[in-house]
Amino acid sequence: MSHEPVASAASAPSLQPEVGRTVIEPLPAPLRGAATVPGDKSISHRAVLFAAMAEGTSRVSGVLDSEDVRSSIKAVSQLGARVSLERQPDGSLAGGITGWGASGPRKPDAPIDCGNSGTTARLLMGVLAPWDVPVEITGDDSLQRRPMRRITAPLMKMGARFEPGGRETLPITEVGTRDLRAVTYDAPMASAQLKTAVLLAGVYARGTTTLNEPAPSRNHTELMLPEFGVPTTAADRTASVTGPRVLQAAEVRVPGDPSSAAFLVCAAVLKPGSSLQVENVSLNTARIGFTRTLERMGADVSVRHAGAAGKEPYGMIAACHTPSLHGCEVPAEKIAGIVDEVPVLALVAAHARGVTVFREVGELRVKETDRLAAVVEGLGQLGVEAYIDGNDLYVEGQPGLRAPAGLVFDSHGDHRLAMTWALVGLTGGVPVEVENFDSVKISYPRFLDDIERLAR
Ligand code: S3P
Repeated sequence: MSHEPVASAASAPSLQPEVGRTVIEPLPAPLRGAATVPGDKSISHRAVLFAAMAEGTSRVSGVLDSEDVRSSIKAVSQLGARVSLERQPDGSLAGGITGWGASGPRKPDAPIDCGNSGTTARLLMGVLAPWDVPVEITGDDSLQRRPMRRITAPLMKMGARFEPGGRETLPITEVGTRDLRAVTYDAPMASAQLKTAVLLAGVYARGTTTLNEPAPSRNHTELMLPEFGVPTTAADRTASVTGPRVLQAAEVRVPGDPSSAAFLVCAAVLKPGSSLQVENVSLNTARIGFTRTLERMGADVSVRHAGAAGKEPYGMIAACHTPSLHGCEVPAEKIAGIVDEVPVLALVAAHARGVTVFREVGELRVKETDRLAAVVEGLGQLGVEAYIDGNDLYVEGQPGLRAPAGLVFDSHGDHRLAMTWALVGLTGGVPVEVENFDSVKISYPRFLDDIERLAR
C-alpha cells in the first residue's frame, strides 16, 4: 500500500519549509497495532557508565543508539574504557564494554564534550570524583546553560574539587580524590541525576553514603548497582551505597523507553480511531506516571507486565483514542515521575474539558530548554490558555481543539518539544512546521518512521 511520508520538504510553495524547519503532515490513518520503542535512555547511560567503571567486560544489549547515549559512549572511551558495541538489526546497540576497574580512568587528551546530554555530564561528575585525574567537562550551548552546582556541591562535601570554584555552568574541570568521604546528603530537589552522581561517588567512599530526596525520582541506579556487585539499599525517598567497592562486570538488557513510548501513546489518545500497544517497554513505576495522568484525564490507557530485565520490570502499554478527556490535578510529589512527559501531557490536557494543573514543575525551566515557557508559548499558538502561577502550570483545555493552518513551532533544539509539537500535525487535520525537528536524534531518532508505520 502506498502512502505519503509524514515529514517532507514539500514541493508546494505554501509548504516549502525554511531552512531548519520540518513539515509534519497529518497521519493518513489511525495508529493501529503493535509497536516497540528504542532502548531506555536513562538505563542506557547507566549501562555504559557503570560498565566503564567496572572490572572486567560487561555485556550490554538493547542500548539506545542516540546522540545522548553516544555522548556517554564517547566520554568513557576517552577515559580508557574499551567499547565494542555494534548496531543490531532492530537499531539498538549491543556488545561488550571493558571497564577501567580498580586502576581508574586515564587522563583524557581533550575536554569531554557531553553534547546535549545532562545525564552524561552530571553522572560523569560522580564517576570521576574518586580519581585524582583532572578532567574538563563541557557541552553544547544548551548544556552550558544548565545548572551544575546541584551536583558539584555534594561532591565537594565528599572531597572532590571543581575549577573554577563555585561555578554554576560548564565548562568545569573536576579533580577527584582517592580519599572521598561518605556523606548523608539531603537533596534540595528530586533529581535522579543528582542522586546518581552522589551514589556513584559513594561507591568509592569508606562507609555508607545516603541520598535523601524530597520526592521519588527515577531509581534505575539503585536497581542496577547491585547487578554490578555494589551493596545498595533503597526505600521511599532515600538510597544508600556502602563502599569502598569496585564494580564488577555485569550483563544489562535495556528495555524500551517509556518516555519515547509516551509520544506514541499520547498520539493514539488524540488521533481518532487509534488503538495501539507498545511492547517491551520499561514499566518501572518511577517512569510510567504519565499513564496514571492520562487515566486521570479519562484516557483509555492500560499496562500489562511481561517480565523483568534484571530488576527493571517491562511489558506493554496499550492506548486507544479517547474523545472525551477531562482535566486533572497532578500533585507536586508525582512530578518527578512524569518530569520528561509534562510537555506532551500538557498538549493532551489542551484537548481536555476543564483545567489541568501540574503542581511544582519549576525543574522544567532548567531542562534542555525552559520547557515551561516553551509549553506556554506553543499552546498559546494553538489558542489554548496556558499559564504559570509560581511553579504551577495551568492548562485550560478546549474539547474539540483544532490547530489553525500555518503554525510554526519552535522546538528550541529540545527533543521532547520537537516531538510534542509534531503531534499537533500528526494527530490533527493540518500540517505544522517544527523548527529544529532534527533534535529528536537526542533520544528517539526513528520517531517519525515509527509513528508513520503505525498509521498505514
Ligand atoms: C534522568 C533524570 C531526569 C530526566 C532526564 C534523565 C536520568 O532528570 O529529566 O531526562 O537519567 O537520571 P532529573 O535529574 O531532574 O531527575
